[in-house]
Amino acid sequence: TTQTLGTEIVSVVNKLQDVFTAVGSSASQIDLPQICVLGSQSSGKSSVLENIVGRDFLPRGTGIVTRRPLVLQLINRPAIPSQANLSKDKVKLEGTDANANEHEWGEFLHLPGQKFYDFNKIRDEIVRDTEAKTGKNAGISPLPINLRIFSPNVLTLTLVDLPGLTKVPVGDQPKDIEKQIRDMLMKYISKPACIILAVTPANTDLANSDGLKMAREVDPEGTRTIGVLTKIDLMDVGTDVVDILAGRVIPLRLGYVPVVNRGQRDIDANKSISAALDYEREFFENHQSYKGKSQYCGTPFLARKLNMILMHHIRATLPDIKARITQQQQKYNAELITLGGAIGDQSSSNIVLSVITDFCADFRMVIDGNTNDLSLNE
Ligand code: GDP
Ligand code: NA
Ligand code: MG
Repeated sequence: TTQTLGTEIVSVVNKLQDVFTAVGSSASQIDLPQICVLGSQSSGKSSVLENIVGRDFLPRGTGIVTRRPLVLQLINRPAIPSQANLSKDKVKLEGTDANANEHEWGEFLHLPGQKFYDFNKIRDEIVRDTEAKTGKNAGISPLPINLRIFSPNVLTLTLVDLPGLTKVPVGDQPKDIEKQIRDMLMKYISKPACIILAVTPANTDLANSDGLKMAREVDPEGTRTIGVLTKIDLMDVGTDVVDILAGRVIPLRLGYVPVVNRGQRDIDANKSISAALDYEREFFENHQSYKGKSQYCGTPFLARKLNMILMHHIRATLPDIKARITQQQQKYNAELITLGGAIGDQSSSNIVLSVITDFCADFRMVIDGNTNDLSLNE
């Protein structure tokens, strides 16, 4: 499962993010890597993200379900064994879903201080706040919903669920809906620190994939785009994606990962994620076309690949982050001098720099230790 992935870097990434948060305003100018899903409506974007996270909480379905960006910050937080200091939280756990536990919860930026232990209630709140800002009739809004999930079972990552590309306006959508959505998506995917999961259903023509086309516009070299092929289970008998995986259709530098998510009937029947992941594994292990390479198929492989790319990516962006912090520091120092001397606290940016330096060192070790796992095309 995703838990086993890249655990070495989790604490370092945590440390880095804590420091950025602690230094306040300057942190907002630093783009830490984010993973965004990109693809047409109902291609399975929300399903893919949910499987990566390993918890049920995203609205999914056949219609236009995701109508605002959801910026999902996963925060790894080790379980605290002591029950004593959790009694206050325990009270809230009563009446929540059977899978709730005191070590995993969500918090919305727009509802400060309110902890959601019941992931069904998280979904309800996403739906409620989406409707509050966009209406019920298929309207969309670029205003993001910010959600943090604290859990011992996640990697510290930021994932962004985005509305799907669409062409024809429906409901209350404006005539230029296609452009509005494109502009919204562009804001996220054009950031060099954004890793793009370009989602295409396997039962459609890859050449028509809007997600892939748009990803290519912002990432022509393909250094931060992973192709994700969903709905492998819905392909006609006798057809498969082997040619795509082998790079014979539209080659992608980082390759493609085929996945099987829950279908609408599974969603309606409340099929659990773990049951879905078991089914996915069995599907690939037993399928004539994939069984020889099943370790390179499915959600766990996608998560692992993502993690490797993330490590490379962070390492590549660190020098820039470092330079920007130094620049800011110099700017503030100059301002301090014009104000009559160093009255303020310069230490915070120094802490950031030293953490980043440590991070670089730790990180190189992690990377070098995993060189053999980095065959990204496999
Ligand atoms: P999004 O609009 O791209 O976020 O797509 P969703 O995740 O909301 O999924 C849209 C619909 O496709 C839902 O009914 C899902 O159950 C279904 N779906 C997504 N992925 C798969 C898959 O791999 N197999 C099957 N059978 N259905 C899927
Ligand atoms: Na959908
Ligand atoms: Mg969605």
